[in-house]
Amino acid sequence: MSTAIQRDKSSFLYQQVVEMVMEMRSSGTLRAGDRLPSLRSFSQGLKVSIPTVRQAYVELERQGMVEARPKSGYFLKAQNIDVQGPKKATPPRRPRVVNKQSLIEEVFTAIHAPGSVALGLANPTAAHSSDKALARVMRRVLANAGNKAIAYGPMEGFPPLRRQLALSHIDQGLQIDPSEVLITNGAQEAIAIALKCVAKAGDIIAVESPTYFGVLELIESLGMMALEIPLCPDHGVGLADLEAALKKHPVKACVFSSSISNPLGSYMNDERREALVHLLESKDIPLIEDDVYGELHFQKTRSVLAQRFSTKGLVLTCSSFSKTAAPGYRIGWLLAGRFHDQAKRVKRALSCSSSLLNQWTLSEFMASGEYERNIRVLRQVLERYKQRAIALVTEYFPTETRMSNPQGGGVLWVELPSKNHGNDLFHRALDHNISIAPGTLFSPSDKFKHCIRVSYGVQWSDKIEESYRILGELVKEGSS
Ligand SMILES: Cc1ncc(COP(=O)(O)O)c(C=O)c1O
Repeated sequence: MSTAIQRDKSSFLYQQVVEMVMEMRSSGTLRAGDRLPSLRSFSQGLKVSIPTVRQAYVELERQGMVEARPKSGYFLKAQNIDVQGPKKATPPRRPRVVNKQSLIEEVFTAIHAPGSVALGLANPTAAHSSDKALARVMRRVLANAGNKAIAYGPMEGFPPLRRQLALSHIDQGLQIDPSEVLITNGAQEAIAIALKCVAKAGDIIAVESPTYFGVLELIESLGMMALEIPLCPDHGVGLADLEAALKKHPVKACVFSSSISNPLGSYMNDERREALVHLLESKDIPLIEDDVYGELHFQKTRSVLAQRFSTKGLVLTCSSFSKTAAPGYRIGWLLAGRFHDQAKRVKRALSCSSSLLNQWTLSEFMASGEYERNIRVLRQVLERYKQRAIALVTEYFPTETRMSNPQGGGVLWVELPSKNHGNDLFHRALDHNISIAPGTLFSPSDKFKHCIRVSYGVQWSDKIEESYRILGELVKEGSS
């Protein structure tokens, strides 16, 4: 590759810079998700002016090859990828008794097996960990508060954390009193409490299809039934499908991740979310909104919580710090609307209170502004890794493979050529110490047999790239 700019060439200098970036991309020096050199360093290196490099980058952006990110620079996008989105699931037929626990157990065992590359785990904080900052804050809390920090905390949660969380909703136009925030052991407990408040064994709960398997496991353990509502990869849950399902079945409540869904990474815009809340409240059906991925969006601003559109108090918001800071701290929260008093009683019965030390640490982490700053970086890193993962699947998997284009979060949903079965691939990948999440995990009726979920929210390394390559080879073998 020629690295020097030739001033006697007939092409403009900026065009030569464009060609140079293209060459670096073809040779693999620059890869999807990589940051291009800064304007200053590239101009110094090439001995051209900063405006020349800027013009080249703008041209590359116009051609769709790079994207500009405010305050971060220019990044190479995944190229020549005609990403075929996954197919939408078929509309619901009937509610199902859920029976997923043994497969979930198997997947969890694989994820935590020593030496395994955990592409089956959704832990986006691994992409940009806050561990050092949190350790610093925790040491300070322990030094200052001593014994108090490891005592039983108040059942509803540590007051300063509840206040920080109430404050954090102001941006979304939501005025929440700290007393309305109930601290839980992760979002999983928040969803469990919410379900117990609004439904009982035998009731029908509408879920997205595909949906997060932890919700299915809860429905199973509470003896409820799940009714699948197809999720549109681009817009979230299909409102027409939902309306039709509500006419046919006595749905008791819905559990939707309408901000950013897991596993599809789909995003429902605020208008549709408002329509969703109006539709459900017009029928007095509670909506349990699982917002764990709400902060990890790739849009300019985060979506507004469904709760903001509620007029009857029938929206229950569940979230946590698991995807943004510290999954192991097991701290989440529930805004239970009109079910708040009931939710408090359920929480007390289930777990009394949540770790005070972890709440204390998180409240100081939030108050210092560091939490917010970390999330901003995490979002950018995740978006870059997403591009890289899409590029790898495109390179190594068979051409008929389809995949999601996540609008946030840290997972990719991959639809394999039809001869492949996700469960079979899960077992074959384990032989190579790679864990993935098979598609059937995300449906009570065993839909998505040809799908898998893989994470890009990981600590990126050559081993991760190699694991994507091996997966691609296994899928090719399975397709022949
Ligand atoms: C969509 C979704 N909801 C809820 C949870 C549970 O979150 P937590 O770890 O805070 O209990 C997860 C975790 O993977 C998730 O992906």
